[in-house]
Amino acid sequence: MVNYQTHLDSITADRLQGFFVGWPNPPRPETHLQILQGSSHVVLAIDREKPERPVVGFISAISDGILTAHIPLLEVLPLYQGRGIGRSLTRKMLTLLTDFYAVDLMCDDELIPFYERFAMQPAGGMIVRNYQNQSGDHRQQTTDFRTNSEV
Ligand SMILES: CC(C)(COP(=O)(O)OP(=O)(O)OC[C@H]1O[C@@H](n2cnc3c(N)ncnc32)[C@H](O)[C@@H]1OP(=O)(O)O)[C@@H](O)C(=O)NCCC(=O)NCCS
Repeated sequence: MVNYQTHLDSITADRLQGFFVGWPNPPRPETHLQILQGSSHVVLAIDREKPERPVVGFISAISDGILTAHIPLLEVLPLYQGRGIGRSLTRKMLTLLTDFYAVDLMCDDELIPFYERFAMQPAGGMIVRNYQNQSGDHRQQTTDFRTNSEV
């Protein structure tokens, strides 16, 4: 039985195992937890039948709190895919973000049909990927990263 929650209470790194499948240089579970803590919104899918109550799927959003939100990450563990968990996570996140003007995400073309189910529309986009930073290990979490950047 999978349950969903929109908070990080009692979520520890050891409950975040196995994500970022296929990433050459994936974030560690500890870094994954920091990513979730730094997000404005999260929805987690949790397998309550396992004693360790692992997180088996998650979706995150970052937002300016007024007008716009971006959904950077959605993943369901391979063993749990095909059971409607990805659809539930996405639907719940879009409900959380329903008051925003713009809700954007980037995806591969093959996933466009998945997101079209939620009345999302395809649009163009531009990206930068600094692959040497993919693990996130180089960053220390700060309470306000805006004060920590030099341009
Ligand atoms: C995409 C992902 C989150 C879907 O999770 P899931 O729990 O397997 O999805 P669901 O079981 O809710 O599937 C819902 C529908 O979407 C379809 N779907 C699922 N994964 C898909 C994919 N990769 N491409 C296209 N369609 C997909 C399913 O076939 C299903 O259709 P159906 O209702 O007609 O059977 C999951 O495949 C995943 O974690 N992929 C790796 C990470 C990733 O690609 N994330 C998205 C980043 S933009």
